[in-house]
Amino acid sequence: MTLAEFIAALEALQSEASRVFAGVQSKEDLEEARVRFLGAKKGAFREVQQQLGKISKEDKPQAGQQLNKVKKALAEALENATDSLKEKDSGSDSPTPDPTLPGIPMDLGHVHPITQTIEHLKEIMGRMGFESAEGPEVEGPWHNFVALNIPEDHPARDPLDNFYLATAGATAGEEGSQLMRSQTSTVQIRVMEKRQPPIRIVSLGRVYRPDAPDATHFPMFHQMEGLLVDQNVTMANLKTVLRVFANNYLGSDVPIRFRPSFFPFTEPSVEVDFLWNDQWIEFGGAGMVDPAVLTAVGYDPEKVGGFAFGLGVERLCMRRHNITDIRDLYSGDLRFLSQF
Ligand code: PHE
Repeated sequence: MTLAEFIAALEALQSEASRVFAGVQSKEDLEEARVRFLGAKKGAFREVQQQLGKISKEDKPQAGQQLNKVKKALAEALENATDSLKEKDSGSDSPTPDPTLPGIPMDLGHVHPITQTIEHLKEIMGRMGFESAEGPEVEGPWHNFVALNIPEDHPARDPLDNFYLATAGATAGEEGSQLMRSQTSTVQIRVMEKRQPPIRIVSLGRVYRPDAPDATHFPMFHQMEGLLVDQNVTMANLKTVLRVFANNYLGSDVPIRFRPSFFPFTEPSVEVDFLWNDQWIEFGGAGMVDPAVLTAVGYDPEKVGGFAFGLGVERLCMRRHNITDIRDLYSGDLRFLSQF
């Protein structure tokens, strides 16, 4: 056998072996290939190796070198095939995905009960022709007090009873200062400043008062403000609107009571109570718009008049859903909130 024949046999062996090892799919394939090429007795390598004796003395060193090269290459091919089979095995240990299993349910959020209440109240009032109006939560003394006939020395303007903001160059309560509005009556003024009667609006939004939280108080809460300005408006109209509203939101069996009271921006004024567990509970205030307010926005109190009311949204929601602690609404506890 010539050196060239020997090398050709080695090359054929190596290319065949690398093809077979690369195609190994299972442990059985691997063992079969190992025996076929590297078997100690009848392996293909062994067979070529045995031909070395037939190579001439002077060609032997070169033939031996080639032989070792191919031996190394075959050992490597075996090792690679073993490794890649192991990788494949560890992968197939994990179970085949079952596409028919139910997926992991995703929890969608839902609308907060107070937001639901606001939408419901707007809808009821909308059916009586009250359109929804909005105003800012940060206000100045004009809209929160002055135009509402609340004089400078009135206790409602006390810095201790309001959230004034630190405003450069202005003392709390004075013109130029700012506060988180303490009532939605501010929106009455904003609407009347912009429009002429007839006016029929509700405004639902947040108000802020530095009250210590307890079962019925929270430093932020919501009010529903109502305002109707037109000719020949009477207190009977006010009572009818609130009765119809209560029929729709709380039920026609819920008694309502007007209790004489005082607000600087209404005359006469009443507190609005609803019966709740055999007790009269205050839900807000109401009354006939004070002529001083109509004058402040440039209306003629001899020609137009109106009524206004402000009701606590949380209290209405609590009355309807039998919630006993306002703090539950703002705890962020989903076990509570998910009930609505
Ligand atoms: N703004 C009053 C309050 O905060 C409620 C009210 C509104 C009273 C409108 C009369 C008329 O409590």
